[in-house]
Amino acid sequence: MTVKIAPSILSADFARLGEEVRAIDQAGGDWIHIDVMDGHFVPNLTIGPAVIKALRPHTARPFDVHLMIAPAQPYIEDYAKAGADYITVHAEADLHIDRSLQLIRSLGKKAGLSLNPATPESVLEYVLDRLDLILVMSVNPGFGGQSFIESQVEKVARIRKLIGDRPIELEVDGGVTAEIAPRLIKAGATAFVAGSAVFKTPDYAGNIAALRGL
Ligand code: DX5
Ligand code: ZN
Repeated sequence: MTVKIAPSILSADFARLGEEVRAIDQAGGDWIHIDVMDGHFVPNLTIGPAVIKALRPHTARPFDVHLMIAPAQPYIEDYAKAGADYITVHAEADLHIDRSLQLIRSLGKKAGLSLNPATPESVLEYVLDRLDLILVMSVNPGFGGQSFIESQVEKVARIRKLIGDRPIELEVDGGVTAEIAPRLIKAGATAFVAGSAVFKTPDYAGNIAALRGL
């Protein structure tokens, strides 16, 4: 099974977003990773449901929507309606994570939980059966182009053990490069988010293949 690549449009040309989404679709990106930031949970402000809705007709690939907003729960339905397939909330953003995850699934979407680098994997333990995806942040969320935080390789391996045989995707986000990727696959990752590593040159297909180790 090859690892899934979710190019992050945070590193795309925002003036040509529809075109960029079509380009990463054609280049073989598995999911489109969409970083939603609120200038409060993270020190940056990006895109919201109206932009996601506008992008929806540009690809049939799943939209992997990463909510870096607090609180997230009141806005989950907006992102479901806008065309998200995976909706990932942060463990640090709401008190009632179990309820948020139930809400996401009740809207017919796949439920994800993301952990900041300093958040221990133990927060996952009692919600594992409500999860379709776990997103390990390997940078402090807020910006593209940051350096990978090494300690997260071990966290990925620990989460892999927690998951057991459940059908949960284990995705890593932040500073992932073709050099780091093989170690993460070995630790048990099944998907990578990649912003800079995909958009750094116009050869998106080549950059995506390199992350898969091809
Ligand atoms: C960071 C975002 C990431 C970011 C990754 O807060 O969640 O998805 O776009 O970008 P790179 O791959 O450049 O670290
Ligand atoms: Zn992200």
